[in-house]
Amino acid sequence: DAEVELLEHLAGVACASTVVVQRGSAHAPGEGVVVLFTGLSGSGKSTIARQVTRRLRAEGSQRVTLLDGDEVRAMLSSGLGFSREDRELNVRRIGWVASLVASHGGMAVCAPIAPYASMRAEMRAMAERAGRFVLVHVATPLEECEARDRKGLYAKARAGEIKEFTGISDPYETPEDADVVVGAHGETVEECAAVVVRYLTASAGGD
Ligand code: PPS
Repeated sequence: DAEVELLEHLAGVACASTVVVQRGSAHAPGEGVVVLFTGLSGSGKSTIARQVTRRLRAEGSQRVTLLDGDEVRAMLSSGLGFSREDRELNVRRIGWVASLVASHGGMAVCAPIAPYASMRAEMRAMAERAGRFVLVHVATPLEECEARDRKGLYAKARAGEIKEFTGISDPYETPEDADVVVGAHGETVEECAAVVVRYLTASAGGD
């Protein structure tokens, strides 16, 4: 009857869409993934992370969670500053939430500066207990970030108005274990996002 027909139709649609999602997906069904974009302030990591999230969702990955840097600082890490201890706590919190998302088969995309190798390693270890970890280094050179100075923070850091500013008066430890490096040669946001999506798709388990 009509109800059975409708159910058969819906089952057909569900099967068809599952096939579409599985083929060439950046995110194999059931596989948890944490994607960490790291880079200097103003390197473009948040913009690229947003663009990657948008593309993956458009391709059918429903379970992509973006842990936006500004939102994290406002909601999860409000009250924290930029001392080494506070940055470590901030990145540990992000890693913990991202791992929770991954442990339920989702993909978490996050983009803190994460300047210390030790905290990125900690995040990797936490994420790998839940699924896959992908480190993306947005390697826009300091001179370029400073020349852009979208938020005017580099000028303030040079003037001594902001202390402990990454790249100026605070360290950024360049990753030696990045899975993907983008942005070092003036690529556009779209080009960087495409490289990351391609990497995620090519390296997804179950493909
Ligand atoms: S961290 O190191 O991972 O905890 O940093 P994060 O949470 O990503 O925050 C970086 C953004 O905070 C602004 N900001 C600073 N950045 C670096 N150093 C200092 N001292 C600082 N003070 C404020 C800055 O706008 C960063 O934003 P992005 O998006 O990275 O440019």
